Amino acid sequence: MRSQLFIPADDEKKLGKGVASGADALIIDLEDSVSAQRKPAARGVAAQYITATRTLENRPLLYVRVNALDTPYWEEDLAGVIGSRPDGVILPKARSGADVHTLSIALNHAEERAGATKGATRIVALTTEVPISLLQMHTYVESSSRLEGLSWGAEDLSGVIGASTNRGVDGRWTSPYELARNLCLFTAAAANVQPIDTVYVNFRDAQGLRTEAMEAARDGFTSKMAIHPNQVEIINEVFTPRPEDIAVSEEIVKAFADNPQAGVIGIRGQMVDRPHLARAQRILARAKAVASR
Ligand code: COA
Ligand code: MG
Repeated sequence: MRSQLFIPADDEKKLGKGVASGADALIIDLEDSVSAQRKPAARGVAAQYITATRTLENRPLLYVRVNALDTPYWEEDLAGVIGSRPDGVILPKARSGADVHTLSIALNHAEERAGATKGATRIVALTTEVPISLLQMHTYVESSSRLEGLSWGAEDLSGVIGASTNRGVDGRWTSPYELARNLCLFTAAAANVQPIDTVYVNFRDAQGLRTEAMEAARDGFTSKMAIHPNQVEIINEVFTPRPEDIAVSEEIVKAFADNPQAGVIGIRGQMVDRPHLARAQRILARAKAVASR
């Protein structure tokens, strides 16, 4: 999964553009992009859309962003959409691993009521939207067997801490958001789930998006969320393993397979040991996933 495109669930026109965007995953949003009055109708639209889109060959993964667990909406969100069998649920404003656990148990019940396979619905948590979460990031580790990714957000966080902006004049994240980003990356690695970079809201700035995506890929994020279809191609390109990285990875995997006793090997003038092997295997797994898209 390289790209996840957000689409407001009450906007049928945008939903109609989801599949053609080329995003590896669509996130049908019931949270901040849908007003309180429209949430009930949006649940129905989301469920219909997911039911229809699931039948397509070569479809994107389908996620629903529900409302946060401290709102009166999230349980109805689940009740409204689980019957359509989304691949996963995005949990916004998560406060700790306990929220992931609570959502996971609620999904057990919702899946059972809907006759869906128990445990089938995955969870991606947005872990940096409320400050308390940043103080207990370790609790996401082993919070649920459903957890498949962690992402982070700067928009809500800057609102809560009272910052006037979250980017400096050079367009880069200011230091509080760099900390949030980096904690998300480390926590995802510790939890052995996908680290997913946050949205780039300036959707007319292709170069800024590309730079930020490249820095994310460089640091270990495996994908980035998008808010506009014109961001998808850039993100997919940046997060697709490059042919030269695939070639080196194949060489590393082969070298260790040919020398099962070896702890360390020299390849192309570089020292290569177990961590490099693990990285090479991850790159090949991602390349394979892209090829099957
Ligand atoms: N998914 C699918 N289609 C989208 C889209 C999205 N996220 N965002 C825009 N489009 C479509 C538009 O409907 C428009 O279609 P048209 O050419 O047939 O009219 C086309 O892409 C171009 O859109 P554009 O005019 O450039 O943008 P806009 O002003 O209509 O919309 C946003 C700008 C930010 C409101 C819109 O991109 C959006 O709703 N993004 C998602 C917001 C969201 O979900 N936020 C929550 C997560 S942070
Ligand atoms: Mg938000």
